[in-house]
Amino acid sequence: MRSLKNLVVVITGASQGIGAAIARHFALEGARLALIARNREKLKAVASDLPLPQKEILVLPTDMRNASAVRVAVQSVRENFGRIDIFINNAGVGINKPVVELSEEEFDTIFETNVKAVFHTFRELIPVFLQQGGGQIINISSGAARIGAPGLAAYAASKAALNILSESVAGEVRNENIKISVLSPASTETRLMSNMSEASRSPSKAALKLTVDEVAEAVIFLARQNSNAWTSMADIRPLLIKR
Ligand SMILES: NC(=O)c1ccc[n+]([C@@H]2O[C@H](COP(=O)([O-])OP(=O)(O)OC[C@H]3O[C@@H](n4cnc5c(N)ncnc54)[C@H](OP(=O)(O)O)[C@@H]3O)[C@@H](O)[C@H]2O)c1
Repeated sequence: MRSLKNLVVVITGASQGIGAAIARHFALEGARLALIARNREKLKAVASDLPLPQKEILVLPTDMRNASAVRVAVQSVRENFGRIDIFINNAGVGINKPVVELSEEEFDTIFETNVKAVFHTFRELIPVFLQQGGGQIINISSGAARIGAPGLAAYAASKAALNILSESVAGEVRNENIKISVLSPASTETRLMSNMSEASRSPSKAALKLTVDEVAEAVIFLARQNSNAWTSMADIRPLLIKR
């Protein structure tokens, strides 16, 4: 498996939850990191806790829904580190409501964050990767993409769209040494999950959730896969054993 030492890794949604755990795991591997979310202070707090020299970490407050902001962020990473090896689209939002109560604005926010932001990154990164001779994008989807979820119609539909968007684009670039993978975690203990699901807070359900570290370990596995091996879609689930 390849070493991740000194690779340049960009992580969106890195200010908390799964994204912050992914940042910690790449830091332990010795990667150089660019951390993205909207809240600068939270990003700085995550960065200051990482086991890396601060010059190896770039904090880039960015709203990933905004195409020109994504362009500026990608340029900043290249100016700072000279290249981008791995880009992890982890930023995501979900709102738990029956569809009749969901506003059009809420629906748009979910699709703009979970799908359109990833489209922006494809448009910015693919030309960079072609110039560099390769690169990798790992998109964090959800198990809800395949089975749907009452109360989470827009979220589940956005993740299904993300899967097909990613699989389609992956086929466009796979002969150019560009890997695009989708990782779909089951329920994971984070703020997003507690916002989305009252039921998930019951102790019996909590025992069946993934931890953020377990999801981050799966991301590290995808990043370390050898150059000719490409996992296009992966699900990660807990064993049904109470902790
Ligand atoms: N938790 C679960 O059970 C679960 C299960 C399956 C899949 N997932 C997926 O895993 C990913 C991470 O989830 P999580 O549970 O760790 O969520 P979380 O704790 O709510 O964190 C979401 C992250 O996304 C950032 N973000 C949101 N909107 C953004 C925007 N427009 N631009 C840039 N950053 C933005 C947030 O920071 P700011 O608010 O500062 O921007 C935050 O860092 C999501 O894609 C989610 O759908 C989660």
